[in-house]
Amino acid sequence: MRGDAAAFPRPFPGKGLALRSVALRSGADLDGFRTAVRRLVAEVVPPDCVSWQESGVLGLFGNEGSGSEAPPLALPRGVGDLVRMVVPHSDPERYALLYALIWRILHGERRLLEISSDPLVHRLERMRKAIARDLHKMHAFLRFRRRESEDSFVAWFEPDHHILEAAAPFFVDRFRSLNWSILTPEGSAHWDGTALTYGPPGRREDVPPSDGFEAGWRDYYESTFNPARTNLRAMRSEMPKKYWHNLPETAAIPGLVRAAAARTNAMIEREPQMPVKRNPARAVAAMSGQEPKSLDDLNAIIRRSEPLVPGATQAVLGEGPAHASLAFVGEQPGDQEDRQGRPFVGPAGQLLARAMEEAGLDRGASYLTNAVKHFKFEARGKRRIHQKPTAGEVSHYRWWLERELDFVAPKLVVALGATAVLALTGKAMPITRARGPAEFGKPYAGFITVHPSYLLRLPDEAKDEAFAAFVADLRRVRELSASLTP
Ligand code: URA
Repeated sequence: MRGDAAAFPRPFPGKGLALRSVALRSGADLDGFRTAVRRLVAEVVPPDCVSWQESGVLGLFGNEGSGSEAPPLALPRGVGDLVRMVVPHSDPERYALLYALIWRILHGERRLLEISSDPLVHRLERMRKAIARDLHKMHAFLRFRRRESEDSFVAWFEPDHHILEAAAPFFVDRFRSLNWSILTPEGSAHWDGTALTYGPPGRREDVPPSDGFEAGWRDYYESTFNPARTNLRAMRSEMPKKYWHNLPETAAIPGLVRAAAARTNAMIEREPQMPVKRNPARAVAAMSGQEPKSLDDLNAIIRRSEPLVPGATQAVLGEGPAHASLAFVGEQPGDQEDRQGRPFVGPAGQLLARAMEEAGLDRGASYLTNAVKHFKFEARGKRRIHQKPTAGEVSHYRWWLERELDFVAPKLVVALGATAVLALTGKAMPITRARGPAEFGKPYAGFITVHPSYLLRLPDEAKDEAFAAFVADLRRVRELSASLTP
Protein backbone atom coordinates (compact mmCIF):
# COMPACT_ATOMS: atom_id res chain seq x y z
CA MET A 1 0.00 0.00 0.00
CA ARG A 2 1.25 3.51 -0.85
CA GLY A 3 1.14 6.78 1.04
CA ASP A 4 -1.11 6.74 4.09
CA ALA A 5 -0.97 2.99 4.32
CA ALA A 6 -1.39 2.90 8.07
CA ALA A 7 -4.72 4.68 7.82
CA PHE A 8 -6.14 1.93 5.63
CA PRO A 9 -5.42 -1.46 7.08
CA ARG A 10 -7.10 -4.23 5.16
CA PRO A 11 -8.93 -6.12 7.90
CA PHE A 12 -10.05 -9.66 7.49
CA PRO A 13 -13.70 -10.05 6.65
CA GLY A 14 -15.96 -10.34 9.64
CA LYS A 15 -16.76 -13.78 10.88
CA GLY A 16 -19.21 -15.56 8.63
CA LEU A 17 -18.82 -13.05 5.81
CA ALA A 18 -17.26 -14.47 2.68
CA LEU A 19 -14.70 -12.40 0.81
CA ARG A 20 -16.33 -11.17 -2.40
CA SER A 21 -14.16 -10.75 -5.41
CA VAL A 22 -15.02 -8.11 -8.02
CA ALA A 23 -13.20 -8.28 -11.31
CA LEU A 24 -13.08 -5.12 -13.38
CA ARG A 25 -11.69 -4.33 -16.79
CA SER A 26 -8.09 -3.15 -16.45
CA GLY A 27 -7.55 0.59 -16.80
CA ALA A 28 -10.43 2.85 -15.86
CA ASP A 29 -13.61 0.78 -15.61
CA LEU A 30 -16.09 3.37 -14.42
CA ASP A 31 -19.20 1.49 -15.56
CA GLY A 32 -18.00 -1.79 -14.05
CA PHE A 33 -17.23 -0.05 -10.77
CA ARG A 34 -20.64 1.64 -10.61
CA THR A 35 -22.48 -1.60 -11.32
CA ALA A 36 -20.45 -3.47 -8.74
CA VAL A 37 -20.94 -0.80 -6.06
CA ARG A 38 -24.72 -0.80 -6.54
CA ARG A 39 -24.88 -4.55 -6.07
CA LEU A 40 -22.50 -4.63 -3.13
CA VAL A 41 -24.51 -1.91 -1.39
CA ALA A 42 -27.80 -3.65 -2.18
CA GLU A 43 -26.41 -6.85 -0.66
CA VAL A 44 -24.91 -4.97 2.31
CA VAL A 45 -21.35 -6.14 1.71
CA PRO A 46 -18.92 -4.05 3.82
CA PRO A 47 -15.73 -2.73 2.18
CA ASP A 48 -13.44 -5.06 4.12
CA CYS A 49 -15.22 -8.04 2.55
CA VAL A 50 -14.49 -7.02 -1.02
CA SER A 51 -11.43 -7.78 -3.06
CA TRP A 52 -11.11 -5.63 -6.19
CA GLN A 53 -9.32 -7.23 -9.12
CA GLU A 54 -8.36 -5.83 -12.51
CA SER A 55 -8.77 -8.75 -14.84
CA GLY A 56 -8.47 -7.21 -18.26
CA VAL A 57 -11.81 -8.85 -19.03
CA LEU A 58 -14.61 -6.42 -19.68
CA GLY A 59 -17.14 -5.93 -16.90
CA LEU A 60 -16.87 -9.34 -15.25
CA PHE A 61 -18.46 -9.40 -11.84
CA GLY A 62 -16.15 -11.89 -10.18
CA ASN A 63 -17.68 -14.60 -8.03
CA GLU A 64 -20.91 -12.63 -7.78
CA GLY A 65 -22.18 -14.18 -10.98
CA SER A 66 -24.51 -12.22 -13.24
CA GLY A 67 -27.87 -10.95 -12.23
CA SER A 68 -30.19 -8.00 -12.57
CA GLU A 69 -28.68 -4.58 -12.06
CA ALA A 70 -29.21 -2.90 -8.69
CA PRO A 71 -30.74 0.62 -8.69
CA PRO A 72 -28.52 3.75 -8.67
CA LEU A 73 -27.47 5.10 -5.27
CA ALA A 74 -28.55 8.44 -3.86
CA LEU A 75 -25.20 10.03 -3.04
CA PRO A 76 -24.45 13.65 -2.09
CA ARG A 77 -23.30 16.02 -4.78
CA GLY A 78 -19.64 15.77 -5.63
CA VAL A 79 -19.27 12.06 -4.98
CA GLY A 80 -20.01 11.09 -8.59
CA ASP A 81 -17.47 13.62 -9.79
CA LEU A 82 -14.81 12.37 -7.41
CA VAL A 83 -15.43 8.78 -8.48
CA ARG A 84 -15.18 9.72 -12.19
CA MET A 85 -11.88 11.52 -11.57
CA VAL A 86 -10.28 8.90 -9.30
CA VAL A 87 -11.21 5.73 -11.23
CA PRO A 88 -8.50 6.41 -13.88
CA HIS A 89 -5.80 6.65 -11.16
CA SER A 90 -3.08 4.01 -11.44
CA ASP A 91 -3.14 3.18 -7.71
CA PRO A 92 -4.43 -0.43 -7.47
CA GLU A 93 -6.28 0.54 -4.29
CA ARG A 94 -8.44 3.19 -5.91
CA TYR A 95 -11.60 1.05 -6.16
CA ALA A 96 -11.30 -0.13 -2.56
CA LEU A 97 -10.80 3.45 -1.34
CA LEU A 98 -13.75 4.74 -3.31
CA TYR A 99 -15.99 1.94 -2.10
CA ALA A 100 -14.90 2.62 1.49
CA LEU A 101 -15.85 6.28 1.00
CA ILE A 102 -19.25 5.44 -0.46
CA TRP A 103 -19.92 2.92 2.32
CA ARG A 104 -19.17 5.47 5.03
CA ILE A 105 -21.32 8.11 3.33
CA LEU A 106 -24.23 5.68 3.14
CA HIS A 107 -23.74 4.63 6.77
CA GLY A 108 -24.22 7.91 8.59
CA GLU A 109 -21.35 10.12 7.33
CA ARG A 110 -23.30 12.01 4.64
CA ARG A 111 -21.05 15.07 4.83
CA LEU A 112 -17.82 13.09 4.80
CA LEU A 113 -16.55 14.75 1.60
CA GLU A 114 -16.56 18.11 3.36
CA ILE A 115 -14.06 16.87 5.99
CA SER A 116 -10.84 17.43 4.11
CA SER A 117 -8.76 16.42 7.17
CA ASP A 118 -10.20 12.89 7.08
CA PRO A 119 -7.32 10.65 5.87
CA LEU A 120 -9.48 8.85 3.30
CA VAL A 121 -10.94 12.09 1.88
CA HIS A 122 -7.47 13.66 1.88
CA ARG A 123 -5.97 10.75 -0.02
CA LEU A 124 -8.77 10.66 -2.61
CA GLU A 125 -8.46 14.42 -3.10
CA ARG A 126 -4.74 14.00 -3.79
CA MET A 127 -5.59 11.33 -6.34
CA ARG A 128 -8.14 13.63 -7.98
CA LYS A 129 -5.50 16.35 -8.27
CA ALA A 130 -3.00 13.92 -9.78
CA ILE A 131 -5.54 13.02 -12.47
CA ALA A 132 -6.31 16.69 -13.19
CA ARG A 133 -2.57 17.32 -13.63
CA ASP A 134 -2.14 14.30 -15.87
CA LEU A 135 -5.07 15.42 -18.06
CA HIS A 136 -3.63 18.90 -18.30
CA LYS A 137 -0.23 17.54 -19.36
CA MET A 138 -1.77 15.32 -22.00
CA HIS A 139 -3.89 18.14 -23.41
CA ALA A 140 -0.94 20.52 -23.44
CA PHE A 141 1.98 18.31 -24.48
CA LEU A 142 0.58 15.83 -26.95
CA ARG A 143 1.78 16.56 -30.50
CA PHE A 144 0.33 15.00 -33.63
CA ARG A 145 2.55 14.08 -36.53
CA ARG A 146 1.37 13.62 -40.07
CA ARG A 147 1.37 10.08 -41.43
CA GLU A 148 3.23 10.09 -44.74
CA SER A 149 0.96 7.67 -46.54
CA GLU A 150 -2.44 9.03 -45.59
CA ASP A 151 -4.05 12.30 -44.76
CA SER A 152 -4.13 11.52 -41.06
CA PHE A 153 -2.25 12.30 -37.87
CA VAL A 154 -0.88 10.22 -35.07
CA ALA A 155 0.53 11.02 -31.64
CA TRP A 156 2.35 9.05 -28.96
CA PHE A 157 1.78 9.78 -25.28
CA GLU A 158 2.61 8.08 -21.99
CA PRO A 159 0.22 9.31 -19.31
CA ASP A 160 0.93 8.49 -15.67
CA HIS A 161 -2.63 7.21 -15.15
CA HIS A 162 -5.36 5.48 -17.17
CA ILE A 163 -6.68 8.72 -18.64
CA LEU A 164 -6.86 8.01 -22.37
CA GLU A 165 -10.67 7.78 -22.45
CA ALA A 166 -11.06 10.84 -20.24
CA ALA A 167 -8.61 12.89 -22.33
CA ALA A 168 -9.61 11.92 -25.89
CA PRO A 169 -12.86 13.98 -26.21
CA PHE A 170 -10.81 17.17 -25.78
CA PHE A 171 -8.94 16.34 -29.01
CA VAL A 172 -12.21 15.61 -30.81
CA ASP A 173 -13.35 19.13 -29.95
CA ARG A 174 -10.07 20.62 -31.09
CA PHE A 175 -9.38 18.59 -34.21
CA ARG A 176 -12.87 17.59 -35.29
CA SER A 177 -12.17 17.89 -39.00
CA LEU A 178 -8.98 15.77 -39.01
CA ASN A 179 -8.47 12.02 -38.84
CA TRP A 180 -6.19 11.13 -35.97
CA SER A 181 -5.03 8.43 -33.58
CA ILE A 182 -3.50 8.70 -30.14
CA LEU A 183 -1.29 5.78 -29.16
CA THR A 184 -0.35 4.98 -25.58
CA PRO A 185 1.32 1.92 -24.00
CA GLU A 186 -2.12 0.88 -22.65
CA GLY A 187 -4.50 1.53 -25.49
CA SER A 188 -5.26 3.79 -28.41
CA ALA A 189 -7.97 6.27 -29.40
CA HIS A 190 -9.04 6.88 -33.00
CA TRP A 191 -11.14 9.66 -34.51
CA ASP A 192 -12.26 9.33 -38.15
CA GLY A 193 -14.19 12.58 -38.37
CA THR A 194 -17.41 11.05 -37.06
CA ALA A 195 -16.73 8.47 -34.33
CA LEU A 196 -14.28 8.07 -31.48
CA THR A 197 -13.19 4.47 -30.97
CA TYR A 198 -10.66 2.76 -28.71
CA GLY A 199 -8.26 -0.01 -29.60
CA PRO A 200 -5.20 -1.94 -28.46
CA PRO A 201 -1.95 -0.35 -27.20
CA GLY A 202 0.37 1.31 -29.68
CA ARG A 203 4.13 1.62 -29.92
CA ARG A 204 6.26 4.71 -30.06
CA GLU A 205 7.78 3.40 -33.31
CA ASP A 206 4.35 3.62 -34.98
CA VAL A 207 4.58 7.40 -34.88
CA PRO A 208 6.77 9.06 -37.52
CA PRO A 209 9.89 10.44 -35.80
CA SER A 210 9.40 14.01 -37.02
CA ASP A 211 8.27 15.90 -40.09
CA GLY A 212 9.74 18.86 -41.91
CA PHE A 213 7.12 21.12 -40.45
CA GLU A 214 8.57 20.68 -36.98
CA ALA A 215 11.74 22.48 -37.97
CA GLY A 216 9.60 25.57 -38.33
CA TRP A 217 8.26 25.22 -34.80
CA ARG A 218 11.77 24.84 -33.43
CA ASP A 219 12.77 27.99 -35.25
CA TYR A 220 9.74 29.79 -33.93
CA TYR A 221 10.47 28.64 -30.37
CA GLU A 222 14.11 29.70 -30.66
CA SER A 223 13.12 33.08 -32.03
CA THR A 224 10.74 33.74 -29.12
CA PHE A 225 12.95 32.29 -26.34
CA ASN A 226 14.11 35.04 -24.00
CA PRO A 227 17.49 34.11 -22.46
CA ALA A 228 17.09 36.72 -19.72
CA ARG A 229 14.00 34.92 -18.44
CA THR A 230 15.38 31.42 -18.25
CA ASN A 231 13.90 29.76 -15.19
CA LEU A 232 14.68 26.07 -15.40
CA ARG A 233 12.67 25.10 -12.38
CA ALA A 234 9.52 26.81 -13.69
CA MET A 235 10.09 25.31 -17.15
CA ARG A 236 10.44 21.82 -15.73
CA SER A 237 7.43 22.09 -13.51
CA GLU A 238 5.21 23.40 -16.31
CA MET A 239 6.67 21.12 -18.97
CA PRO A 240 8.22 18.09 -17.21
CA LYS A 241 11.19 16.57 -18.99
CA LYS A 242 9.48 13.27 -19.66
CA TYR A 243 7.26 15.03 -22.25
CA TRP A 244 10.09 16.73 -24.08
CA HIS A 245 10.60 13.94 -26.58
CA ASN A 246 7.05 14.56 -27.89
CA LEU A 247 7.58 18.25 -28.45
CA PRO A 248 9.47 19.48 -31.50
CA GLU A 249 10.31 22.79 -29.86
CA THR A 250 12.08 21.21 -26.88
CA ALA A 251 14.96 19.89 -29.02
CA ALA A 252 16.20 23.47 -28.91
CA ILE A 253 15.99 23.88 -25.11
CA PRO A 254 19.33 22.43 -23.89
CA GLY A 255 21.32 24.54 -26.37
CA LEU A 256 19.30 27.65 -25.59
CA VAL A 257 19.72 27.17 -21.85
CA ARG A 258 23.49 26.61 -22.19
CA ALA A 259 23.79 29.82 -24.20
CA ALA A 260 21.39 31.84 -22.04
CA ALA A 261 23.93 33.49 -19.70
CA ALA A 262 26.22 34.58 -22.53
CA ARG A 263 23.29 35.88 -24.57
CA THR A 264 21.94 37.83 -21.59
CA ASN A 265 25.31 39.51 -21.00
CA ALA A 266 25.55 40.38 -24.67
CA MET A 267 22.01 41.84 -24.55
CA ILE A 268 22.95 44.05 -21.60
CA GLU A 269 26.09 45.34 -23.28
CA ARG A 270 24.54 45.94 -26.69
CA GLU A 271 23.24 49.40 -27.66
CA PRO A 272 19.45 49.63 -27.44
CA GLN A 273 17.91 48.69 -30.79
CA MET A 274 14.51 48.85 -32.42
CA PRO A 275 12.92 45.40 -32.36
CA VAL A 276 13.51 43.42 -35.51
CA LYS A 277 10.26 42.73 -37.30
CA ARG A 278 9.63 39.02 -37.48
CA ASN A 279 6.99 37.15 -39.27
CA PRO A 280 6.61 33.82 -37.50
CA ALA A 281 4.16 32.46 -40.09
CA ARG A 282 6.72 33.13 -42.81
CA ALA A 283 9.51 31.68 -40.63
CA VAL A 284 7.51 28.51 -40.09
CA ALA A 285 6.77 28.10 -43.78
CA ALA A 286 10.27 29.01 -44.95
CA MET A 287 12.13 26.91 -42.39
CA SER A 288 10.14 23.83 -43.17
CA GLY A 289 10.69 24.23 -46.90
CA GLN A 290 7.01 24.91 -47.30
CA GLU A 291 6.92 28.13 -49.30
CA PRO A 292 3.51 27.66 -50.89
CA LYS A 293 3.36 27.46 -54.67
CA SER A 294 -0.42 27.49 -54.99
CA LEU A 295 -3.53 28.29 -52.98
CA ASP A 296 -3.88 24.57 -52.21
CA ASP A 297 -0.29 24.46 -50.88
CA LEU A 298 -0.94 27.49 -48.73
CA ASN A 299 -4.20 26.06 -47.42
CA ALA A 300 -2.46 22.82 -46.50
CA ILE A 301 0.07 24.80 -44.43
CA ILE A 302 -2.62 26.87 -42.75
CA ARG A 303 -4.70 23.77 -42.03
CA ARG A 304 -1.76 22.19 -40.19
CA SER A 305 -0.89 25.31 -38.24
CA GLU A 306 -1.47 25.46 -34.50
CA PRO A 307 -3.73 28.28 -33.32
CA LEU A 308 -1.73 31.15 -31.87
CA VAL A 309 -4.07 31.14 -28.88
CA PRO A 310 -5.01 27.54 -27.97
CA GLY A 311 -8.65 26.55 -28.16
CA ALA A 312 -9.77 26.73 -31.78
CA THR A 313 -11.13 23.51 -33.28
CA GLN A 314 -9.54 24.02 -36.66
CA ALA A 315 -8.16 26.61 -39.05
CA VAL A 316 -10.92 28.19 -41.14
CA LEU A 317 -9.75 28.71 -44.70
CA GLY A 318 -10.98 31.16 -47.32
CA GLU A 319 -13.87 29.96 -49.46
CA GLY A 320 -15.11 30.76 -52.96
CA PRO A 321 -13.92 30.50 -56.56
CA ALA A 322 -10.11 30.32 -56.60
CA HIS A 323 -9.97 33.25 -59.06
CA ALA A 324 -12.95 35.29 -57.92
CA SER A 325 -12.80 38.91 -59.04
CA LEU A 326 -14.24 40.12 -55.75
CA ALA A 327 -12.88 39.14 -52.32
CA PHE A 328 -14.11 39.98 -48.82
CA VAL A 329 -11.83 39.94 -45.78
CA GLY A 330 -13.38 39.65 -42.32
CA GLU A 331 -11.77 39.50 -38.89
CA GLN A 332 -11.62 35.91 -37.66
CA PRO A 333 -13.91 32.88 -37.63
CA GLY A 334 -16.65 32.93 -35.00
CA ASP A 335 -18.10 30.09 -32.95
CA GLN A 336 -20.11 28.57 -35.82
CA GLU A 337 -17.31 29.00 -38.33
CA ASP A 338 -14.90 27.27 -35.94
CA ARG A 339 -17.24 24.30 -35.54
CA GLN A 340 -18.12 23.98 -39.23
CA GLY A 341 -14.69 24.90 -40.62
CA ARG A 342 -16.20 27.44 -43.06
CA PRO A 343 -16.06 31.25 -43.04
CA PHE A 344 -19.13 33.44 -42.59
CA VAL A 345 -21.67 30.74 -41.80
CA GLY A 346 -22.77 32.15 -38.40
CA PRO A 347 -25.04 35.14 -37.65
CA ALA A 348 -22.62 37.77 -39.02
CA GLY A 349 -22.16 35.71 -42.19
CA GLN A 350 -25.91 35.40 -42.64
CA LEU A 351 -26.30 39.14 -42.30
CA LEU A 352 -23.54 39.67 -44.85
CA ALA A 353 -25.30 37.26 -47.24
CA ARG A 354 -28.58 39.20 -46.87
CA ALA A 355 -26.86 42.54 -47.48
CA MET A 356 -25.01 41.17 -50.52
CA GLU A 357 -28.24 39.86 -51.97
CA GLU A 358 -29.96 43.24 -51.49
CA ALA A 359 -27.00 44.93 -53.14
CA GLY A 360 -27.14 42.55 -56.12
CA LEU A 361 -23.84 40.81 -55.32
CA ASP A 362 -23.49 37.09 -55.91
CA ARG A 363 -22.04 35.54 -52.74
CA GLY A 364 -21.25 32.30 -54.55
CA ALA A 365 -19.08 34.20 -57.05
CA SER A 366 -17.11 36.02 -54.32
CA TYR A 367 -14.13 34.83 -52.29
CA LEU A 368 -14.65 35.13 -48.50
CA THR A 369 -11.80 34.93 -46.03
CA ASN A 370 -10.53 36.25 -42.72
CA ALA A 371 -7.51 38.19 -41.48
CA VAL A 372 -6.99 35.62 -38.70
CA LYS A 373 -7.62 31.96 -39.43
CA HIS A 374 -8.39 30.62 -35.96
CA PHE A 375 -11.24 31.42 -33.57
CA LYS A 376 -10.10 33.14 -30.39
CA PHE A 377 -12.54 33.06 -27.51
CA GLU A 378 -13.04 33.12 -23.78
CA ALA A 379 -14.97 30.15 -22.36
CA ARG A 380 -17.86 31.21 -20.09
CA GLY A 381 -19.56 28.04 -18.97
CA LYS A 382 -20.66 26.36 -22.18
CA ARG A 383 -20.49 29.58 -24.18
CA ARG A 384 -17.44 30.64 -26.17
CA ILE A 385 -17.26 34.41 -26.25
CA HIS A 386 -15.41 35.95 -29.20
CA GLN A 387 -12.19 37.79 -28.31
CA LYS A 388 -10.81 40.40 -30.65
CA PRO A 389 -7.38 39.44 -32.02
CA THR A 390 -4.48 41.63 -30.92
CA ALA A 391 -2.38 43.57 -33.41
CA GLY A 392 0.41 41.01 -32.87
CA GLU A 393 -1.92 38.14 -33.77
CA VAL A 394 -3.13 39.96 -36.87
CA SER A 395 0.45 40.51 -37.92
CA HIS A 396 1.24 36.82 -37.36
CA TYR A 397 -1.38 35.83 -39.92
CA ARG A 398 -0.78 38.74 -42.28
CA TRP A 399 1.74 37.04 -44.48
CA TRP A 400 -0.70 34.19 -45.06
CA LEU A 401 -3.48 36.59 -46.02
CA GLU A 402 -1.19 38.38 -48.47
CA ARG A 403 -0.15 35.09 -50.12
CA GLU A 404 -3.79 34.02 -50.25
CA LEU A 405 -4.85 37.18 -52.05
CA ASP A 406 -1.82 36.93 -54.37
CA PHE A 407 -3.04 33.49 -55.46
CA VAL A 408 -6.70 34.46 -55.82
CA ALA A 409 -5.75 37.75 -57.52
CA PRO A 410 -9.14 39.48 -57.24
CA LYS A 411 -9.83 42.85 -58.91
CA LEU A 412 -11.30 44.29 -55.75
CA VAL A 413 -10.83 43.46 -52.06
CA VAL A 414 -13.39 44.61 -49.48
CA ALA A 415 -12.14 45.03 -45.91
CA LEU A 416 -14.93 44.31 -43.44
CA GLY A 417 -14.12 46.21 -40.25
CA ALA A 418 -11.00 47.49 -38.50
CA THR A 419 -9.16 44.17 -38.12
CA ALA A 420 -9.35 43.53 -41.86
CA VAL A 421 -8.10 47.08 -42.51
CA LEU A 422 -5.17 46.50 -40.14
CA ALA A 423 -4.35 43.22 -41.86
CA LEU A 424 -4.54 44.71 -45.35
CA THR A 425 -2.75 48.00 -44.71
CA GLY A 426 -0.63 47.36 -41.61
CA LYS A 427 -2.27 50.45 -40.07
CA ALA A 428 -4.99 50.87 -37.46
CA MET A 429 -7.63 53.37 -38.60
CA PRO A 430 -11.19 54.19 -37.62
CA ILE A 431 -13.73 52.82 -40.09
CA THR A 432 -15.86 55.96 -39.90
CA ARG A 433 -12.99 57.95 -41.48
CA ALA A 434 -11.71 55.33 -43.88
CA ARG A 435 -15.05 53.99 -45.15
CA GLY A 436 -15.30 53.86 -48.97
CA PRO A 437 -12.83 53.17 -51.81
CA ALA A 438 -9.28 52.60 -50.50
CA GLU A 439 -5.74 51.92 -51.61
CA PHE A 440 -4.00 48.85 -50.14
CA GLY A 441 -0.76 49.25 -52.12
CA LYS A 442 -1.52 46.10 -54.11
CA PRO A 443 -2.54 45.33 -57.68
CA TYR A 444 -6.17 45.03 -56.58
CA ALA A 445 -8.46 47.93 -55.75
CA GLY A 446 -9.68 48.28 -52.18
CA PHE A 447 -12.87 49.20 -50.39
CA ILE A 448 -13.45 49.64 -46.65
CA THR A 449 -16.75 49.14 -44.87
CA VAL A 450 -18.05 48.02 -41.49
CA HIS A 451 -18.01 44.45 -40.24
CA PRO A 452 -21.48 42.83 -40.24
CA SER A 453 -21.11 41.84 -36.57
CA TYR A 454 -20.99 45.58 -35.75
CA LEU A 455 -24.56 45.79 -37.11
CA LEU A 456 -25.60 42.88 -34.91
CA ARG A 457 -24.37 44.67 -31.80
CA LEU A 458 -26.26 47.94 -32.46
CA PRO A 459 -29.41 48.76 -30.46
CA ASP A 460 -32.58 47.77 -32.34
CA GLU A 461 -33.57 51.34 -33.18
CA ALA A 462 -30.24 51.95 -34.98
CA LYS A 463 -30.10 48.67 -36.88
CA ASP A 464 -32.24 49.48 -39.96
CA GLU A 465 -30.38 52.64 -40.82
CA ALA A 466 -26.97 51.02 -40.35
CA PHE A 467 -28.01 48.03 -42.44
CA ALA A 468 -29.20 50.33 -45.25
CA ALA A 469 -25.83 52.14 -45.19
CA PHE A 470 -24.03 48.79 -45.35
CA VAL A 471 -26.13 47.73 -48.36
CA ALA A 472 -25.38 51.10 -49.99
CA ASP A 473 -21.65 50.40 -49.51
CA LEU A 474 -22.03 47.00 -51.12
CA ARG A 475 -23.87 48.55 -54.08
CA ARG A 476 -20.85 50.83 -54.58
CA VAL A 477 -18.66 47.73 -54.38
CA ARG A 478 -20.75 46.12 -57.12
CA GLU A 479 -20.42 49.21 -59.36
CA LEU A 480 -16.72 49.54 -58.66
CA SER A 481 -16.09 45.90 -59.37
CA ALA A 482 -18.04 46.09 -62.65
CA SER A 483 -16.02 49.14 -63.71
CA LEU A 484 -12.63 47.45 -63.22
CA THR A 485 -11.10 45.83 -66.27
CA PRO A 486 -10.99 42.01 -66.12
N1 URA B 1 -16.79 37.16 -38.55
C1 URA B 1 -15.73 37.17 -39.38
O1 URA B 1 -15.00 38.14 -39.47
N2 URA B 1 -15.50 36.10 -40.10
C2 URA B 1 -16.25 35.03 -40.08
O2 URA B 1 -15.94 34.06 -40.77
C3 URA B 1 -17.37 35.06 -39.22
C4 URA B 1 -17.62 36.13 -38.45
